Amino acid sequence: EDNKVYRASTFAPVNIAVIKYWGKRDTKLNLPTNSSLSVTLSQDDLRTHTTASCSASFASDTLTLNGQPQDISTPRTQACLRELRSLRKDLESKNSSLSQLSSLQLKIVSENNFPTAAGLASSAAGFAALVRSIANLYALPASPTELSRIARQGSGSACRSLFGGYVGWNHGSAADGSDSIAYEVAPADHWSDMRAVILVASAEKKDVSSTAGMQATVGTSALFKARAETIVPQRMEEMEEAIRKKDFAAFASLTMRDSNSFHATCLDTDPPIFYMNDTSRAAVRVCQAINETAGRTVCAYTFDAGPNAVVYYLAADEAAVAGTFRGILGEKTGWEGSRGEKVEKAGQVP
Ligand code: PMV
Repeated sequence: EDNKVYRASTFAPVNIAVIKYWGKRDTKLNLPTNSSLSVTLSQDDLRTHTTASCSASFASDTLTLNGQPQDISTPRTQACLRELRSLRKDLESKNSSLSQLSSLQLKIVSENNFPTAAGLASSAAGFAALVRSIANLYALPASPTELSRIARQGSGSACRSLFGGYVGWNHGSAADGSDSIAYEVAPADHWSDMRAVILVASAEKKDVSSTAGMQATVGTSALFKARAETIVPQRMEEMEEAIRKKDFAAFASLTMRDSNSFHATCLDTDPPIFYMNDTSRAAVRVCQAINETAGRTVCAYTFDAGPNAVVYYLAADEAAVAGTFRGILGEKTGWEGSRGEKVEKAGQVP
């Protein structure tokens, strides 16, 4: 009947890059200057849940996040909706028995189970869930690769959340972005004892958005060129090999050095951008101490566009890594109260 509500839901997990995306060659299509690689967290931990519905009874497209109405008119969100509607329209034109969902208004309802825009990759899970929920609603025969191309236009890093496990994002070279897509480096069960703990140094909204920060870095940093042209391409190869061989020491060394390299280009931006704070630097030192005490590399820190640390480790080293952080940071200021929560989530990586 006329006012029927069509509905589909999905979860999308957060992904945390170990080789960082930082810099756009095309700001409209979110085309990156360099490739990147991430680990997708288990969706039991940090994730967005999204329900997309459409109905002739809806007056306009709407989007809410954690119960708050969001601006759906932003060019990035519009690009995703446009692409998905046009794929549905193609289906409808080929099969006249399909309902004309592409002409109905959409209602998108999302819930994050973690702080939004605190450098916890909220936009990645958010756009991945938005794109997949609508693709499900429209019954699109689209592969994760195809959906990654669409989600990338919402938020670059979102393209990597369409896959589980170990995921690359090829920078691509086509001007229309058709080859700037995510790909599976290895499924989660290839290296299933990988774990991550997130140290929430501040749950506040970050002060320089990743888009503004990237543009400033691309425009002013002298270090940036070397990073994009030589450092990252080399590390992408080494990281894929470390993952293939399940070589944690190599994985960890590349992860920590690449995080430091990314934050160095932020510091090299004019005016400088500081995402890491004193609490972040304390976490770096604790990781170093844990590795020294163990006599081998058992943990790897990485920081996105915010002060929170993500620390990767293997399940066998749970006590040495997550246990140490829980034990000592619970006692220190900077990890509790107004400046943030204590150590957590201890996340299994699928
Ligand atoms: O996709 P965005 O705009 O949220 O940018 C993400 C940038 C980093 O998180 C810092 C790095 C990355 O590769 O995820």
